[in-house]
Amino acid sequence: MTATEVRDPVRSALESVLDEVRSKTSGEVASYIPELARVDPDPLGVALVSVHGVVHEAGDTDTHFTIQSVSKPFVFALAVDALGLEQVLTHVGIEPSGEPFNAISLEPATGRPLNPMINAGAIVMSSLMAGDTADEKFAAIHAGIERFAGRDLVVDEAVFSSEAQTGNRNRALAYLTLAAGTLGSPVDVATTAYFRQCSISVTARDLATMAATLATGGVNPITRERVISEDAARWTSSVMTSCGMYDESGDWLMRVGLPAKSGVGGGIAAELPGQFGIGTFSPRLDAKGNSVRGVAMLEAMSARFELHQM
Ligand code: DON
Repeated sequence: MTATEVRDPVRSALESVLDEVRSKTSGEVASYIPELARVDPDPLGVALVSVHGVVHEAGDTDTHFTIQSVSKPFVFALAVDALGLEQVLTHVGIEPSGEPFNAISLEPATGRPLNPMINAGAIVMSSLMAGDTADEKFAAIHAGIERFAGRDLVVDEAVFSSEAQTGNRNRALAYLTLAAGTLGSPVDVATTAYFRQCSISVTARDLATMAATLATGGVNPITRERVISEDAARWTSSVMTSCGMYDESGDWLMRVGLPAKSGVGGGIAAELPGQFGIGTFSPRLDAKGNSVRGVAMLEAMSARFELHQM
């Protein structure tokens, strides 16, 4: 370190969190999407973006991976912002399902998937985006996710083709919502938009910026652009708190106590409302589809810095 370099204490703290979890090599990369089985399991990164737009990072924060389910709260936020909560809630519930992310989920009385964080509810959210075709709906999703991240993002076409070729369970979930009257478009329009949404390529820094945009109440702290309304940001944080970690959500709330969303690409986005967003990346997953080292990093940070919200 030269005399003019200032040591960033937050970065030092992030580095020590990486060191703490580096030796955890349990878990497996996702393999039900064949292309994801080919990813390098070893990268490890964490980024923190404050509501003032200051970025701190450690480890592999330039490594790209597919956003997968971490996209779900942000598309819910875009749907709520565009259509209003009342309208969105005629299509999807906001109750934790206590079931895996790919569960068959329809409330008997309403035909709504239980929440927008599980696949069935997320596909319904993608179907509600503006436009009639998959391309138009994906264009709305893509533009929205880019505003959350504050930069241009590309689709990983290999992962998209792999998901599109093997995503029959998601098509089945979409057909059930179509039959129940809660899907907002034909099945292939919704699932194609959803598969492309899940295949957007991001970094841990992008996830931290996206989460920080929720933490500010809807303004991207780096670009200073308002992406969604304050209400939409608060409702999204609420749904992440209750449903973001699927059937691990209760355990997560006890141990970490932050709104968060995981994805099978190995990313997790978490936030401390009013303070900062955190993005973690490590591809090996636990049995519930959440990143083993990502969960461990957030658990360590929550304990060490007393971030627990409850
Ligand atoms: O639809 C799927 O199964 C994937 N595109 C996304 C699932 C996912 O990321 C679950 N998260 N942990």
